[in-house]
Amino acid sequence: MQIISTVAELRQRLHGETSIAFVPTMGNLHEGHLDLVRIAREQGQCTKGTQSANQQAGCGVGCVVVSIFVNPLQFGVNEDFSRYPRTLEQDSKLLAQCGADVLFTPSEHDLYPQPQQIMVELPPIANELCGAFRPGHFRGMATVVLKLFNIVQPHLAVFGKKDYQQLHIVRQMAAQLNLPLEIIGGETVRASDGLALSSRNQYLNAAERTEAAFLYQTLLQMRQQLLNKEKDLASLEKTATEVLSARGWRVDYVTIRAQADLAEPQAGQHKLVVLAAAWLGKTRLIDNLEVGLGQ
Ligand code: PAJ
Repeated sequence: MQIISTVAELRQRLHGETSIAFVPTMGNLHEGHLDLVRIAREQGQCTKGTQSANQQAGCGVGCVVVSIFVNPLQFGVNEDFSRYPRTLEQDSKLLAQCGADVLFTPSEHDLYPQPQQIMVELPPIANELCGAFRPGHFRGMATVVLKLFNIVQPHLAVFGKKDYQQLHIVRQMAAQLNLPLEIIGGETVRASDGLALSSRNQYLNAAERTEAAFLYQTLLQMRQQLLNKEKDLASLEKTATEVLSARGWRVDYVTIRAQADLAEPQAGQHKLVVLAAAWLGKTRLIDNLEVGLGQ
């Protein structure tokens, strides 16, 4: 695996590659990230057939690029940019083991040689859910992702469903800006007690870490109630918020939305997703769970 830290060198290295799969990250890699790299590795682009046909034919992408860049543009002033864990040496070992070809680690100066003044303007959904509590976060995220897409010029890019709203926004951006790439969503990888893996989990103390699994339990309970044909979504959301609060969580939101557009579900919509963001002490955790209601 090659480690490349400037835009110019990366462009040179990737020149002539016919099939590039890309996984953007902020580093401090865990199994969730590595799973996305494996998905990138396995996705086939070497024939004009469907992806599954390509996979069956054993075709893989030519080059898997992973980026590690803690993007200041997507952190608020009081957020954890400066203390975000940076573990490049360990990360590069893990990536080499799981089949990445190129690790791109640009410096802040290389990605932002001048203050970034041109930003991606996002639809109103970017100001809801996490966007309501992290103003400007998705704008900064989408801007760096678009820059990285332009630098890497991948044929496909893999994002985790763990950050469901982020995946939705990236998909929308790719579709509406006619980006010539496919966006693939990877399932959330969890610890054995159900907690979604996240670089931020290591901020939790031992008691918080034990309690943290309850967020997923809450989502599972809500899913079960939806499957049991509970129709009063507002009451499900309210109860979950009250239960979490009573256990010491500070809840930003617990909400049931439509998978397709993350809007409040219309009657009869079957593909739903329960999304939550809540604080344990000084750590903000997010999670979500898709729910498919029978016809
Ligand atoms: P980061 O938080 O490092 O996440 C990188 C990718 O890993 C994202 O697509 C995220 O959804 C995915 N991911 C994180 N935890 C996961 C888990 N438990 N299971 C599966 N996938 C998981 O998301 C970002 O970085 C940044 O916003 C970025 C897109 C790199 C732009 O700066």
